[in-house]
Amino acid sequence: MLPSQLQSALVDLDTQGLRRRRRMLDGTQGARVTVDGREYLSFSSNDYLGLAGHPTIAEAARQAAAAVGVGAGAAHLLTGHHRLHHELELELAAFVGMPAALLFSTGYMANLGVIQALLDRYGEVFEDRLNHASLVDAARLSRAKLTRYPHLDLVTLERQLAGSSAKVKLIATDTVFSMDGDLAPVAELLALAERYDAWLYLDDAHGFGVLGEAGEGATSLLVVQGREIAPSETFPPLSQRGGGGGFFNGGVTTKVAKTPPPPLEKGGASRHASSTSPPSARRPAFPALSWRVVAS
Ligand SMILES: Cc1ncc(COP(=O)(O)O)c(C=O)c1O
Repeated sequence: MLPSQLQSALVDLDTQGLRRRRRMLDGTQGARVTVDGREYLSFSSNDYLGLAGHPTIAEAARQAAAAVGVGAGAAHLLTGHHRLHHELELELAAFVGMPAALLFSTGYMANLGVIQALLDRYGEVFEDRLNHASLVDAARLSRAKLTRYPHLDLVTLERQLAGSSAKVKLIATDTVFSMDGDLAPVAELLALAERYDAWLYLDDAHGFGVLGEAGEGATSLLVVQGREIAPSETFPPLSQRGGGGGFFNGGVTTKVAKTPPPPLEKGGASRHASSTSPPSARRPAFPALSWRVVAS
């Protein structure tokens, strides 16, 4: 596109009232924010629990930055995997009751990395129409076939699963839908995944910290409904809670599908070609600390 064409495209967007502009924030995230010099009550951030600007968490970040600096240095698979990342992975896994967790720098990166690791061109991903864009991008990058079903329409999903001859099938869904706030029928999806030997991949960006008695997220939906097994899960949660980042926990995937998942280290450029978030930024995101802060 030539600069003059870009210019006229922008004018078109202006005319239709569709041009997006960034607003500038001063100070911290919180219930009240200062945007473009005016104070507002904020209903438009992911910082539901008020952790982003919490003084105790900010102090933990300050101390961690003094101890380990502010740069990540490299991706996790190079030399960017710090002890603080490792400890956070252990805490996250324990918090959601899973054997292990993998950190990514954002939730978007988690979805790209994990779905690309799990599928290739012989796979098929089944996605709710209202899934977050990162799940759609992840499926496209994996080169698997992407099949979408109408929002929460399990009858259509079942028909699609029954008609699929893909080597590996994966159902991916938001747990709490990011735009509408409604819930995916997690237990019913798990039953379908079992029936059609598919993996179930839950993006719990808006469920982690909110669902369940202790904020453990989507797994609580299964526990509540008396299920013994949990699906593979991805939580890009900490950004939603104000800390920044994402993590994946797929430790029990093999209990759900007969086909064991490949090792996650295999695929997904977001693990090896994108720097990790700085360890000092991750230290204050330790859930135990964050939850204690919320409770106090
Ligand atoms: C359901 C869902 N998944 C993934 C993401 C991406 O998370 P992040 O902002 O950490 O990249 C979001 C962002 O809001 C989301 O709503």
